[in-house]
Amino acid sequence: MCGIVGYIGYRDAYPIILQGLQRLEYRGYDSAGIALYDGENLKLSKTKGKVEDLKIRLESEITTNGSIGIGHTRWATHGVPNDVNSHPHISNSGNLVIIHNGIIENYDPLRKELINRGYSFTSDTDTEVLVNLIEDVKIKEGVKLGKAVQIALNQTIGAYAVAVFDKTKPNEIVVARLGSPLAIGVGDNELFIASDATPFIEYTNNAIYLEDGEMAVVRNHKKLKIRKIKDDSLVDPYIQELQLNLEQIEKGGYDHFMLKEIYEQPDAITDTFRGRMLVDKGIVKMAGIDDNLEKFLNARRIIIVACGTSWHAGLVAEYIFEEFARIPVEVEYASEFRYRNPIVYKDDVVIAISQSGETADTMAAIKLAKDQGAFVFGVCNVVGSSISRETHAGAYTHAGPEIGVASTKAFTTQITILTLIALKLAKHKGTLSNSEFRAYLQELERIPAKVAKALKSNEQAEHVASQYKDASNALYLGRGYNFPVALEGALKLKEISYIHAEGYPAAEMKHGPIALIDEQMPVVVIATKKGHYEKVVSNVEEIKARSGKIIGIVTEGDEEVKKLADHVIEIPETLEPFTPLLATIPLQLLSYHIAVMLEKNVDQPRNLAKSVTVE
Ligand code: F6R
Repeated sequence: MCGIVGYIGYRDAYPIILQGLQRLEYRGYDSAGIALYDGENLKLSKTKGKVEDLKIRLESEITTNGSIGIGHTRWATHGVPNDVNSHPHISNSGNLVIIHNGIIENYDPLRKELINRGYSFTSDTDTEVLVNLIEDVKIKEGVKLGKAVQIALNQTIGAYAVAVFDKTKPNEIVVARLGSPLAIGVGDNELFIASDATPFIEYTNNAIYLEDGEMAVVRNHKKLKIRKIKDDSLVDPYIQELQLNLEQIEKGGYDHFMLKEIYEQPDAITDTFRGRMLVDKGIVKMAGIDDNLEKFLNARRIIIVACGTSWHAGLVAEYIFEEFARIPVEVEYASEFRYRNPIVYKDDVVIAISQSGETADTMAAIKLAKDQGAFVFGVCNVVGSSISRETHAGAYTHAGPEIGVASTKAFTTQITILTLIALKLAKHKGTLSNSEFRAYLQELERIPAKVAKALKSNEQAEHVASQYKDASNALYLGRGYNFPVALEGALKLKEISYIHAEGYPAAEMKHGPIALIDEQMPVVVIATKKGHYEKVVSNVEEIKARSGKIIGIVTEGDEEVKKLADHVIEIPETLEPFTPLLATIPLQLLSYHIAVMLEKNVDQPRNLAKSVTVE
């Protein structure tokens, strides 16, 4: 959480940093701030609120430009979001300026120690403690800024991506990371620092992603040296060529990123299987699996670790892996797995799913599984992300940047890639017949067109949204492959509209949730033709008998549910394991329209952030 940006070079730093903050706002949007130095004056401005509020403030305040600067967009951890707690923070002398993404867990004893040494604090943040600790080390030890940062960080416990500069030596910015991402854009006589590469893609295609425990002193005109924070050893910088382009991170005529990303799903799914699925030849090719095939084929179990929407994709994958490849699967919340002393065997394969590739709990779960000897495979969207580098092997979803905080295309592309893996393993294990295998491949190839058709339900979803936007609660029911879709539908609604919603396996309704049903309760039922259809229809009858309002997600041409439901939204027919890829579309649209009608901030819902780099 939190986005950080920095610039050092020959251009005016202000517009670069401001724009960078706007692009990183998905990482946190409680408050924002910027510090610029022109060689004489330090201009520091920060405010509670969004980057737009900062921009308005800066329009009246900005007096200094300068070609060195840092900026921050915050997701509050220590201290409420207000002007004082916003970053950048300044040391007591007024010389050192810092931005920080992460948490310094031992900030309290450090703060007490610094107070005993005469330091004072204006904010409640751990970051203000860190900048003063660096200053204290610098003065006490008589060392340069880089060394002071290194010594100070070695006294901390926690996670960070930091950028610090000293206004008395304004030709360098010191950066370091542990647990929070940090990319350095390498231009001609200019360097950029950011939580991801989006703030600098129009300036350079070359980026270095710092690894955990690394730091660098970023100086204009100088070759970048990367060191290990722990022992000062030098690391060869690996410059990576970026695949991003500007169009991908703009709204492209849509009102919101979320809507754009919902509509991108046919292409995103195609991009996920492109080059991996050779339908004519009946082959699935994936380097990460091919290179480790024996590990997968001999796996005692597959354990999937993930959070939120990615966890829901993992639940769909559980059904698919067990059905296709007959390998037992367990799906774990990464946050629970990491703390409950789980049993992990050396012949387990752990699959970590993460759109951002930065989720702290998922990262910790991976480390635990690796420590216990398991083979860990990553499914990430963000190329070069921490999780993609921490895992033994992996596959990218290639969904393109997902900027709306509510995950949409990440979900469907995660299911797509996991389906490909399951199909590949099934082929090798012989758990699907050749004809079944081919039928699945052929149908998967048709899915993007079917998703495009499902997107035609947009107007209907908008109409249904208008009927239920004022509801206080909603229930989502599904069975089998569509139980996780019910969970995902409920999550989408609650996170962007703030309406309380629960997802349940349809048959569980009578074990408790049925008590909630009355004429005020909208119940979204995924009742597609395949998969326990008759049983779900019985559930629909039960809801009807209690006057619940029924919104059915049904297969084209369905008549039975139509007779019972208050509204139905049709999706194209497909093979049962692929219904989640279609059924989720109207649910995404429904949540989107409800949130728009309620005038909520669809792309940046309150209290959330896109990339959860704190536990
Ligand atoms: C919900 C959502 C979150 C994320 C979760 C995991 O719409 O976006 O629940 O799915 O925070 O994030 P990643 O996939 O980046 O690990």
